[in-house]
Amino acid sequence: SDRVMLGPLVGAIDQGTSSTRFLVFNAKTAELLSHHQVEIKQKFPKEGWVEQDPKEILQSVYECMEKTCEKLSQLGIDIANIKAVGVSNQRETTVVWDKMTGDPLYNAIVWLDLRTQSTVERLINRTPGKNKNHLKHRTGLPISTYFSAVKLRWLMDNVEEVRRAISSGRAMFGTIDSWLIWSLTGGKNGGVHCTDVTNASRTMLFNINTLDWDPELCQFFDIPMKILPKVRSSSEIYGLMKICSSLKSGSLTGVPISGCLGDQSAALVGQMCFQDGLAKNTYGTGCFLLYNTGQKPVMSEHGLLTTVAYKLGRDKPAFYALEGSVAIAGAVVCWLKDNLGIIQSAGDVEKLAALVGTSYGCYFVPAFSGLYAPYWEPSARGIICGLTQFTNRSHLAFAALEAVCFQTREILDAMNRDSGIPLAQLQVDGGMTSNKLLMQLQADILCIPVVKPSMPETTALGAAMAAGAAEGVRVWSLDPKDLTAVTCERFEPQINPEESELRYARWKKAVLKAMDWETS
Ligand code: G3P
Repeated sequence: SDRVMLGPLVGAIDQGTSSTRFLVFNAKTAELLSHHQVEIKQKFPKEGWVEQDPKEILQSVYECMEKTCEKLSQLGIDIANIKAVGVSNQRETTVVWDKMTGDPLYNAIVWLDLRTQSTVERLINRTPGKNKNHLKHRTGLPISTYFSAVKLRWLMDNVEEVRRAISSGRAMFGTIDSWLIWSLTGGKNGGVHCTDVTNASRTMLFNINTLDWDPELCQFFDIPMKILPKVRSSSEIYGLMKICSSLKSGSLTGVPISGCLGDQSAALVGQMCFQDGLAKNTYGTGCFLLYNTGQKPVMSEHGLLTTVAYKLGRDKPAFYALEGSVAIAGAVVCWLKDNLGIIQSAGDVEKLAALVGTSYGCYFVPAFSGLYAPYWEPSARGIICGLTQFTNRSHLAFAALEAVCFQTREILDAMNRDSGIPLAQLQVDGGMTSNKLLMQLQADILCIPVVKPSMPETTALGAAMAAGAAEGVRVWSLDPKDLTAVTCERFEPQINPEESELRYARWKKAVLKAMDWETS
């Protein structure tokens, strides 16, 4: 027949906040062969609450796999060449399910959710000196609404089914990676309950020094350790895909799932930031800058998180990263579309902003979920200021894009201060990087070049690399030299640094106004 001859292929599930994707790569060149994407609904049942349906998420994964396999077959590519599947996922989002029925006991509480603000205040008040950084030496994280432990605490305090399932020994807790791997490896019929070190490091129950669950942290949050998944490396065979009734072809049955990384870690791997001093910034729903600090965890003095970057094999060392997390990046564009209706699709924001090419002195701080790095201020709320009679929707669109760039500048500054060595350029990826206006604006506001890979799906690539390189699979070399399909585009700063500084100073003034707005 006219089958295309290729070497081994590797699939990647990329389960993000806004959408799910399945992508298939050629393991020799990293070339992306086919993919499919499905949007995920976010529910906002109350102000500040953000939930998703874990079943919908799982179904979207099946659908993406099915459609991608169909597309590959149409291209004449034999799906039997898919030798492994990797998982990358939105981090922190919390699911509790019943292991006997396989059903979630509540919606997933999404990382952006703010319902735990009062729980967080109560927990901070219990620490000596009312210090939000009380657990930082073990977890790398401040006590915040962002991480899984407080979400799990809320579920235990407020959902009777969760309480009952825990006391009868039927409850399983997991972030999205665990929920997916358990379900895909058989679910209630013997699914594997595990997570990887990168996802575990976002729960606040995980000790980043010992690389295991920490009994004292579990005690602090009063969480029973028996409901936690087993922690594994980011690259090893966790289990094999089982036949599933939703998969018509069952084509991936028996394929090992052998890579697992939180999406931001996956992007770091996909950008080949394998040495300390290398960094990347990913523009998704939020925006996350990770800086590889090598085999030692480095504690930030400037409001950044310390997190496990990756551990690519059971016997391989863990690498750590400093992370600057911004809650709202792409989400501000969705807000312009869904809440204001000033654009029809997210892609239209570039055109609308380009009409004016300036915010005309308008500043937009989208602190919808409080402010994350470097402030960690849950009581901040969004603000639009500097409006005049002249301001129109185009200026607002421009200000929204500029907000993404200013927030990145804040975390880059913190990163440079912590490391003492300023980054000479910024490697970027993620959905928003197809917006050329945004990329140019980012270079202008950072005053350093911004470098974007031609293949924007670096998150999925990282998960595929981890899966393909795992012991027992070994179809992928992690040597960047071999990945011939990867080229880059550069954006050089074009405005003078004084103007850039002036605008940045204005932004900081606007941020001050957004602070301490909503205290519970
Ligand atoms: O920590 C949250 C992060 O993992 C979500 O990523 O790409 O869905 O914005 P993204």
